[in-house]
Amino acid sequence: VPARLALTILFIAITTLAAEPVSFRAEIAPILQQRCIGCHGEEKAKGGYRLDTFAALSNPGDSGEPPFTAGDPSRSTLHTLLLESDDDARMPQKAAPLPQNETALIARWITEGAHFDGDDTAQSLSTLTRSRFLRPAPKTYPRPLPVTALAYSGDGTALAVGGYHELLIFHPEKNDPPRRIGGLPERITALAWSPKKNLIAAVGGTPGRWGTVAIIDAADRFKTRILCDVPEQVLSVAISHDGTLLAAGCGDRTLRIFELPTGTQRHILRPHADWLQSIAFHPRSHLLVTASRDRTARLIDATTGEVQTTYRGHDSPLLAAAFSDDGSHIYTTARTGPVHIWAPQTAAKTNTFTDFTGTLENLTTTPAGTIAASTDGTIHLFQTAQKSPYLTLPGHHGPITAVAAAPGGYTFATGSAHGIVQIWNTACPTPTQTFRAAP
Ligand code: HEC
Repeated sequence: VPARLALTILFIAITTLAAEPVSFRAEIAPILQQRCIGCHGEEKAKGGYRLDTFAALSNPGDSGEPPFTAGDPSRSTLHTLLLESDDDARMPQKAAPLPQNETALIARWITEGAHFDGDDTAQSLSTLTRSRFLRPAPKTYPRPLPVTALAYSGDGTALAVGGYHELLIFHPEKNDPPRRIGGLPERITALAWSPKKNLIAAVGGTPGRWGTVAIIDAADRFKTRILCDVPEQVLSVAISHDGTLLAAGCGDRTLRIFELPTGTQRHILRPHADWLQSIAFHPRSHLLVTASRDRTARLIDATTGEVQTTYRGHDSPLLAAAFSDDGSHIYTTARTGPVHIWAPQTAAKTNTFTDFTGTLENLTTTPAGTIAASTDGTIHLFQTAQKSPYLTLPGHHGPITAVAAAPGGYTFATGSAHGIVQIWNTACPTPTQTFRAAP
């Protein structure tokens, strides 16, 4: 017995010594972010209570009771509501109770004084936890990574490719290794490269946990700035033709419009009931088309934030949207069914294309027509007035996961789930170049 007692004492001594104070930034914020923000954030504040910043979560909601009393978890609704036996009263509502290690961590943080260890109590929890989701990029890639995003520079000589925690800039004409720009999310879901200001917009994140909109200045040593952090992955991005507006479509259902080059947020809009999968600007105005998993597309004036028309022609989640080169038509694709072509101002369907195989997850625009890339590896080129693809190219072995056109030209690039990039010209049936998009 004495030996066991000694061991127990030793164990207690070690665990007590090892226990660092609980960090709000590193340990509490991620729990709240994942479990609570959906009902207590910018978008919804159930019970009049927000916990998307430390400042907000310190203020009482409708109950008028302070959410926590430093030093006393039993007098802190932020803790007691997690343990309620009544399902309707327990937080998070309509979900399983938090695991015991998480409720214990929250209790310990309150017992230790409920300290804030960030820089600014008004910062969003997403911004506070950003560093948890950023890692150095690997030196080399052991396996090819799916090419999830592509964008061409204004002069068409450089191609930006989304990598793992980095952006890769290739010059396909030369054989040099890519330039690597780190400090980015694990997954880049979309890219836009504005010829006017030579800025690259990169969006992405970690599914279900964090997302971000970053701007990389290609004219100034590829310096990177983060414009915002959101509690879900950011899925789509576009920059207006004149380079003054950036639009980002997010997994938290928000559409965010920023002014460039300042990066000031002009609007947070909620035009859809589900993810904004794809967005595209009109080639000569500030009109924006958004394609959502909620089965609709909308035409939005990005200057005012006003929804102008809604297109309801598809009967499955939308995947991609693009304007025709002259801006007179919009192309949209969905998980099932044909490509739809419709008029922006009236949302009236003018044509559909059924003559393709696979699912068309990506669209881009060239003067020769609109290019749609399929999950079966084929590439189709459509023109508004015709019934069938004008051109079908054999493409990749495996799904095409990204496509981008060089501004104003006939060159475009496709990227596959197997990590291969192909460069094409709309006048030529075979790729002009093929390379593996990894350092
Ligand atoms: C599905 C929605 C939902 C989720 C998720 C949710 N809550 Fe709530 N919360 C509510 C509603 C609704 C109320 C209003 C009181 C009620 O109806 O019980 C509320 C009230 C509260 C209050 C009381 C505010 C006041 O002063 O009146 C606190 C504190 C709270 N929630 C904490 C949390 C925490 C912490 C989490 C995450 C662990 C969480 N909630 C997750 C819906 C939710």
